[in-house]
Amino acid sequence: MTAATLEIHLTDDDLTAALRSDVRQGLTASPKWLPPKWFYDARGSELFEQITELPEYYPTRTERALLESVVGEIAAVAQAEVLVELGAGSAAKTRLLLDALTTGGPLKTYVPQDVSVSALRASADEVAAEFPGLAVHGVVSDFTATLDNLPRGGRRMIAFLGGTIGNLVPAERAQFLSGVHDVLEPGERLLLGAGLVIDPAILVPAYDDAAGVTAEFNRNVLHVLNSRLAANFAPEKFAHVALWDEENEWIEMRLEATEAMSVTIADLDLTVDFAAGERLRTEISAKFRPAGLEKELAAAGFGTERVWTDPRDRFALVLAERR
Ligand code: SAH
Ligand code: AVI
Repeated sequence: MTAATLEIHLTDDDLTAALRSDVRQGLTASPKWLPPKWFYDARGSELFEQITELPEYYPTRTERALLESVVGEIAAVAQAEVLVELGAGSAAKTRLLLDALTTGGPLKTYVPQDVSVSALRASADEVAAEFPGLAVHGVVSDFTATLDNLPRGGRRMIAFLGGTIGNLVPAERAQFLSGVHDVLEPGERLLLGAGLVIDPAILVPAYDDAAGVTAEFNRNVLHVLNSRLAANFAPEKFAHVALWDEENEWIEMRLEATEAMSVTIADLDLTVDFAAGERLRTEISAKFRPAGLEKELAAAGFGTERVWTDPRDRFALVLAERR
């Protein structure tokens, strides 16, 4: 068995520099905000895995069941020699794709990409052990910064699963999809998983579970700021809030200060005041309509070949060709 290789384009110093810049920008803005990528240190990646098992969090199991039912069709159409997966995390569902793409298909290489080095190292090693004939080459990078580090050559399919596309605001999404278009050759494919607009009575509990795991995941960003930038947030003084924004059709997660406080971010020489009840936006999770997805893909230069949805229309998988 050949071990997985890992290419690190984001060192610890790069991460700290990017975090410093995001924190200075987001915590001095009104209203305050932080980008969601900072949830994912080792603990955050672990908490996300726990979220995927929660009874309220339907996206992962819905996408998995959908993938199971259509993966043969995807493999037959894509004939991919290289599977690149953005934001791969634990790559749990990817095993289905890897099975289908290697069984009688030409897949030779799997390239999981993620900002979380701990998650990526573990999943790349596990996949390499499970698929001995496959070359596994992990890439640690930020997909909102650049996709230029992804390998070229071989017929590629880029997978972006889990609904992570919804964690980008519309302008970031357009930029991201154009970036994916630019790294692909005409005829190569994107497989996109996206959550659909559904009843808020199902959506909201998925982001506000009874066991409080999503609340801990949300507060984890404050732990990351404490450990990486010597901040002195008291995470327990921030309440988890998840709201459905009807107009933008996204879930918005916030952290609400339960009392007035002053927080010092020592490494930035910055003091940030929170009023009692003030909210800090930590994530959006946009939900889509199939026609909207096709339109956004077309605007970035992709032709939609197939859209599959689960029987309850909660989640979509879209196979799109780079034109
Ligand atoms: N694809 C997996 C994991 C989804 S969780 C699934 O479907 O279950 C989102 C993943 O994207 C995490 O592993 C996180 O570390 C990664 N991620 C978030 N923002 C990122 C960014 N800007 N660049 C690269 N990876 C990112
Ligand atoms: C990774 N991403 C698709 C998750 C989502 O559903 O937006 C992150 C998450 N946030 C709260 N729960 C899960």
